[in-house]
Parts: sequence; C-alpha cells; structure tokens
Amino acid sequence: MVLLMYLTKEEEKMLDGEYGPAVQYAMKLLTKFGDVFGAERMVKIVHAHVSCTTYSIEYALVDWLDDLVKMGARVRVPTTGMITNIDLELWRELGIPEEWYKNTRRLIDHHIKMGFIREFTCTPYFVPGLFLSKGDHVAWCESSAIIFGNSVMGIRTNRECCQSALMAAIAGRTPEFGFHLIENRRGVVLVKVKTKLKSVTDFSLMGYHLAEDMGLRTPVFDGIPHATVEQMDNLAAAFTTRSGISMFHIVGVTPEAPTLDAAFQGDKPEDTIDFTQADLLNLYKRFREAEVPIQRVYIGCPHLNLKQVAEVARLINGKKVAKGVTFLVGTTRAVKRAAEEAGYADIIRKAGGYLISDTCGTAMRHSIGYPWGEPENWVFNGMKQVYYFKPGRGFIGDIKECVEAAITGKWRVIKDENSKR
Ligand code: F3S
Repeated sequence: MVLLMYLTKEEEKMLDGEYGPAVQYAMKLLTKFGDVFGAERMVKIVHAHVSCTTYSIEYALVDWLDDLVKMGARVRVPTTGMITNIDLELWRELGIPEEWYKNTRRLIDHHIKMGFIREFTCTPYFVPGLFLSKGDHVAWCESSAIIFGNSVMGIRTNRECCQSALMAAIAGRTPEFGFHLIENRRGVVLVKVKTKLKSVTDFSLMGYHLAEDMGLRTPVFDGIPHATVEQMDNLAAAFTTRSGISMFHIVGVTPEAPTLDAAFQGDKPEDTIDFTQADLLNLYKRFREAEVPIQRVYIGCPHLNLKQVAEVARLINGKKVAKGVTFLVGTTRAVKRAAEEAGYADIIRKAGGYLISDTCGTAMRHSIGYPWGEPENWVFNGMKQVYYFKPGRGFIGDIKECVEAAITGKWRVIKDENSKR
C-alpha cells in the first residue's frame, strides 16, 4: 500500500502491528481515510465520542465490535458513547421490553470491554471531569455535539461516523483535515440578527429556520450580544435538523470570533442572510401557537445540564403530572447522579415524572415505540425533536412552559401572547 500521509516513528510501529492487531487495524483504516481526504499527517486526540451505541441503527455492527474486542481493542483516550435506545438503568420501570434491554446491553458491553466511560449521551461536554480546552483535537460523533464543541468550546473535530471515531479512540489519533485545520474553520455566511433573542426557544427556532439554507456553510452571527451555554446548545442541535454544518461563530461570544473580521479570517462573507422579528414570529406561529391536549412532554433535547435539571425540579416541586401525560426529563448519567444527591430526582419522581439517561424521547420512539402508546401531541424543549415528530403535532417551549404543559395536560399558546414580544 502506498501511503500518502506522513507518519511519526511511533505511528509507523502502530501500523506495522507492534502495538497489537487492534491498533494496527485502526491505523490501517485511519490512514486510508486520511489519504482519501488529503490529510498530510495524524493529530493526537484527547477525547472521543462514539456513536456505535444505538441498537436500532447499529445492530449490524455487533459482530464487528465482537471481533474488535477479541482482537484486544482498548481505547487510548477517555471515550464516551452516544445515546442508546433505552435507559439501561430504568428500563424495567419505563416498561421497555426485555429483548430490547438484552440487545442494547450486548452492544454496550462491547464498549465497556474496550474501556469506554459509562456515559451514553448527546452532550459529552456535560460529563464532569472532561474539561477540554480551545484547540484540543477530538474525534466526535453526534452532529449537535460536534457543532457545540467546535463553536462554543473551540475544540476541533470533524463530523465523525461511528467507525472512524472508534478507530480514532483506539489509535488515539485522527487524520488532520477538515475542521482540525484552522483555515477550514472560517465563517462563510453572515447572519445579521435583527431581533432580540430572549429565550432558549428563540435560539432553537432560529437554528431550525436557518438550517435549510445553510448546507455545509459555516454561519457567523452578528447582533447577538450575549448567549448562554443553554441557548448555544439548543442552537447547535437545531442546526442538525436540516443542515450539515460543523460549527458556527457568534461575534463577541464564541472563542474564535472576537471580531467579525476574525470570524471570517479576513475574508468577505459569501452570502448575507437577515434573521428578523417577522421570521421569529412566523416560527412561533408554526411551532408554538396551539391550544391542544397533550400526552407527552420531553425536556432534554439536547441532554440537560445540572442547572436545567434543578430548574425542572424547582418548577415541579409539590405539583403532579396530569393524568394521561408522560413526563420525561433526559440528561447524562453523571448529571442524573448529581441530581439524585441533590434531591432533584426525587422531586421529579414524586411529581410523577422520570429523570432518564442513556437515551432520549426520539431514540426510544424511533426504535421500540412507546410502552405508553404513540402520543397525538407532544411538547419538547428543542426543535430537533419537534422536527423528528409528526408534523404539526410537536410544539416547542422553554423549560417553564414544558413543565406547565406536563402539569395541566395542555399546550396553550395563543396569538396575543406572541405578539407582545
Ligand atoms: Fe440529543 Fe436526542 Fe435531541 S440525541 S440532541 S436529545 S434528538
């Protein structure tokens, strides 16, 4: 095989099999991958986030993972997994069929044998102890996490598939191309935000709206003086509905965009798009205005951080979820443990809700359906799940509105409330 990439002495040994068959196998795939994309060398990674964990999608990989484990594969960097189809801890309580537990368990056990951290989430950045620095190279799956990592944390990752991310985890390296190179991280489209964005919901709706026109082009937002982690988290997730972007910049907010000029790396934008008050109100009309009974509420798209779980607990404390409504709150295992210790989990349980980890509403619905039946109307806190649900039957609200819907069993947003903005 003629190799186009430069390899260090150590990497040559890895490729020659001196570090065992699994590392050799990983290096063979990674070097081929790098050659295809014109990478000149490998970069060491400090973390991997791998998506071979969702049985409904990755069932064909069980034998491949089995072979890797038999080869002695071990991850060389801290590695987390993407969500699974079920909550591996609460599956009985949630009424998940045992067959689904066994299938998912088998898939997950292969990951555990390879040394994965027991976290299966779309927000690896909310796993405590995994503090990453601007400029760190990682190999991440999960489109929303990739956008958040590149944009908000300033770490560098391409949009990995489960195989490439797992090979990078085993080799501790990934080919240097795409978003690992600073020149590919420049902004391409200028988005002038001409309305005041007030809530997480506003950011989520804007991301969904802009995604359609963005394709693979990196947007630069001008006109957002401040954005919270939660707002940017939901913006990232909403972009994944209809675009293939890997990052965004917010001038004066995100780490690689201290100025407009820096965000575009001195170039001119290829395109300019306005996001206006009229756009936002149209989105409100489409995804919020309704007065309907609801059967399901899911808060946790993307998986919540501890602050957000605390907010849910504060809002639902002493109240009860309405009869006929299933109330799910999704987070990471680490946040769930902290929420147990802080008493938040107990408050949510006493109200009749479920604090779940390892999965999300959509991942459960797309695989096993629901032990509680398919809902007519569903309220979510993120556009990604609204997009995946039945058109016209999913509504978006902030955490307060979602909790209110769970307690009353109704979604009620009328036109007058929107026009007060
Ligand atoms: Fe995460 Fe599921 Fe939303 S994977 S981003 S909670 S659709």
